[in-house]
Amino acid sequence: MYQTWEELEEECKNCTKCKLCNNRHNVVIGTGNKNARIMFIGEGPGADEDAYGIPFVGKAGKLMDKAFQGVGIKREEVYIANIVKCRPPNNRNPEKDEAASCREYIESQIRLVNPEIIVLLGSVALKNILGEEYGITASRGKWFEKDGIKYMPTFHPAALLRDESKKIYFWNDLKASVNINKQA
Ligand code: URA
Repeated sequence: MYQTWEELEEECKNCTKCKLCNNRHNVVIGTGNKNARIMFIGEGPGADEDAYGIPFVGKAGKLMDKAFQGVGIKREEVYIANIVKCRPPNNRNPEKDEAASCREYIESQIRLVNPEIIVLLGSVALKNILGEEYGITASRGKWFEKDGIKYMPTFHPAALLRDESKKIYFWNDLKASVNINKQA
């Protein structure tokens, strides 16, 4: 476990623990407020994120930014990271060994940010953080608690681009996360 951001960032930038390091342009560590009360965890960088080194800057990210605006939060207020820090080829799901290699990074980020609420974006984030047994359709919109943190699984924003009918659920889950945060 990394005790400081400096240690974590240095290690991440030079990481060669799995094969995803071979084709990356940038390691995408995380962005936003390192003392945020709400943290978002996605799956892994896509082409735009790999090019810029920042999570959720592509199409899915733009949609997420719009939703943030709609519920009255700013991207800079929250902390955003992914399960894996390097882009999986052709945007495939991260493989087990890749997620395992990155595990210490996301666990350290959670510890360092120490948020009250974590929104899990999609199935990969859900399964890696809460357990393989969970499915996103059944789990989304429900609160889970682990190690003193409240977790809200919801659909991945890329899923909303494929299926517009999911937008309302994402929106509701986001609102629930923001509102509980305000009451805390
Ligand atoms: N999808 C993700 O899961 N993460 C990103 O950073 C971008 C797209």
